[in-house]
Amino acid sequence: MQIREYREDDCSDVTAIFVNAVTVTGLRGYSPEQVRVWAASGASDDATRERCGDGRLVLVAVDENDRAIAFTDLEDDGHIDMLFCLPEWTGRGIASALYERLEHIARERGMSRLYVEASEIARPVFAKKGFVLLHRNDFEIDGVAVHHYTMEKLLLGKLPIAG
Ligand SMILES: CC(C)(COP(=O)(O)OP(=O)(O)OC[C@H]1O[C@@H](n2cnc3c(N)ncnc32)[C@H](O)[C@@H]1OP(=O)(O)O)[C@@H](O)C(=O)NCCC(=O)NCCS
Repeated sequence: MQIREYREDDCSDVTAIFVNAVTVTGLRGYSPEQVRVWAASGASDDATRERCGDGRLVLVAVDENDRAIAFTDLEDDGHIDMLFCLPEWTGRGIASALYERLEHIARERGMSRLYVEASEIARPVFAKKGFVLLHRNDFEIDGVAVHHYTMEKLLLGKLPIAG
């Protein structure tokens, strides 16, 4: 598994990762009705192209054939909007590796805070990475109640050496 930046020709693979991650792995934390409306909210190549092409950093994890199997992103204000992994690749540390690369880049860019609206499934993943829970968000998509959790991690720089 390698990590590289997203390219335009990853678009359909990234859309498929999103749909499969939500509709399969999403069932670990949400009802079939909830994953249906969640998946529909971003399940098109146009949505992927727009989101991934707007200037944000998008990282993909790729298999031995350079096909994307997981992805994440970082917006300029420290917001992580997406973290998704193909169901058959979950539980192998791929999201973890993507996140570690993302945090490294955020620190290089001098960012002081990362934040995310974590799903029920991603909440323990981000907690393990040092994110703290700020609050739960309850909302509706197409009339279906859904929730996620706002979490943040402060990236504290090294203290200046005294004297
Ligand atoms: C969330 C998701 C991307 C995680 O992908 P993954 O590749 O299986 O995650 P990893 O195997 O890298 O696990 C990440 C870390 O969290 C830990 N972890 C995962 N699930 C956990 C749980 N339920 N409890 C405690 N720790 C957990 C792992 O041990 C790992 O820790 P490590 O870095 O010390 O090894 C994947 O489950 C997914 O696509 N979910 C559906 C879509 C979704 O909810 N996306 C998040 C939107 S905010």
